[in-house]
Amino acid sequence: MTDKNKITIFGLGHIGLPTASLFADKGFNVKGIARDDEKLRLISKGISPIDEPGLSELVKITVENGHFTVSYDEVEAVSSSNIMIIIVPTPMDEQNRADLTAVKEASKTISQGLKKGDLVVVESTVPQGTCDNIVIPILEESGLKAGEDFSVAYTPERAIPNNTIYEMTHNARVIGGYDERSADRASELYKHITVGDVIKVKNLITAETVKLIENTYRDANIALSNEIAMICEELGVDAIEAIKVANYHPRVNLHIPGPGVGGHCLAIDPYFIVETAKGKGMQAPLISTARIINEGMPQHVIKLISDTLAEVGQEIKGSTIGLLGVAYKGNVADARETPAKDLINILKEKGAHVYATDPYTPKEGIRALGAEPVDMGQVLNCDCVVLVTDHDEYRDIKPEMVKSPIFICTRPILNPEDFEKSGIIFRGIGR
Ligand SMILES: NC(=O)c1ccc[n+]([C@@H]2O[C@H](COP(=O)([O-])OP(=O)(O)OC[C@H]3O[C@@H](n4cnc5c(N)ncnc54)[C@H](O)[C@@H]3O)[C@@H](O)[C@H]2O)c1
Repeated sequence: MTDKNKITIFGLGHIGLPTASLFADKGFNVKGIARDDEKLRLISKGISPIDEPGLSELVKITVENGHFTVSYDEVEAVSSSNIMIIIVPTPMDEQNRADLTAVKEASKTISQGLKKGDLVVVESTVPQGTCDNIVIPILEESGLKAGEDFSVAYTPERAIPNNTIYEMTHNARVIGGYDERSADRASELYKHITVGDVIKVKNLITAETVKLIENTYRDANIALSNEIAMICEELGVDAIEAIKVANYHPRVNLHIPGPGVGGHCLAIDPYFIVETAKGKGMQAPLISTARIINEGMPQHVIKLISDTLAEVGQEIKGSTIGLLGVAYKGNVADARETPAKDLINILKEKGAHVYATDPYTPKEGIRALGAEPVDMGQVLNCDCVVLVTDHDEYRDIKPEMVKSPIFICTRPILNPEDFEKSGIIFRGIGR
């Protein structure tokens, strides 16, 4: 096992920390680098700063047995490792373009300690061509040549929050290499932590593309369902029923409509393809339109709220609006890019008093989105309740618990008739 020994991982976040502790658990000596002193301090004591099933135990065991350490001397960590993995953030800038600052910084640091025989793996989600056109030229500032002196591979991460460890160790892993040797080395490496298939693709850019098209497919699929849902609302057709039944067709797989798309991947990755297409003089109209539709869904929810309030002689201004859930999807705390953020902003701009509850997202997270954190009872007492997130806890909400005259359900997890029978005005996306 030639690559067994020493790995430096750049980025100890939602993806980097589980990856680091999984490799350490398999006997690799892993050094972790991050830009957050408090997180580094906690990790160095064997405490996971990220709440993820199974992660605390892995961090504790691997830090205590000495296989996982944090490093503050980044170049020294690279100099004393054979494998470097980049899992740093790649957010979007104001113009919806990838901000590759952290990837460039990590590549620069690696170039300063790179040695013959090293393997560099990029896991961060990046626009197509980033490894070939940005990462490798920076690494070659070392004076070494990719392919001849060191190997480079790209492998996207597809694990979801709340199931990250299971998915990292079971999902199929896609690997693209600068050359065949790079792909082979990376494949052997990841076989240590996954029992899933390890699929080698032609090259680096193909692997980068795989990641982006997976999420773009899902974003476009959801946009299609959202558009269908809005048309069905006008026609008085239950879109949820229609979509469910359409999915009995063996070649149809429509996703469920909702208040918008959030999280670190779906709301961002399609823009990376648009950016690359624009660089080639293309517009990517379908992908761009899907983004417009999904980003417009909070406005549609606002319309549902204001139309329904009007039915009882009220308006958004001055009303109390209670949100059930702020996380971008069910059963997770993650509120990054959540549609709840736009919803809260618009409601406040229109003069509403916005309250929210979430069994997973901490109170400070709710406050950071601009809503006042309260308990579920208070939310159900507002002038209008809006179910934003399909947390399992909300599937048990009974009409008798709702003191509000209006319930807007943006996810199809409750039966409208139950509420309507109790005299509650119930509206849902697509119904
Ligand atoms: N979170 C997910 O569910 C998910 C899923 C698939 C892919 N990804 C991709 O993985 C990458 C990392 O995402 P994440 O969610 O783990 O991010 P995160 O924000 O949770 O963590 C990022 C980590 O990188 C560190 N960091 C920032 N700048 C750095 C630098 N210049 N050098 C070294 N470390 C640096 C931070 O301190 C932090 O530890 C992104 O490209 C993301 O798109 C994330």
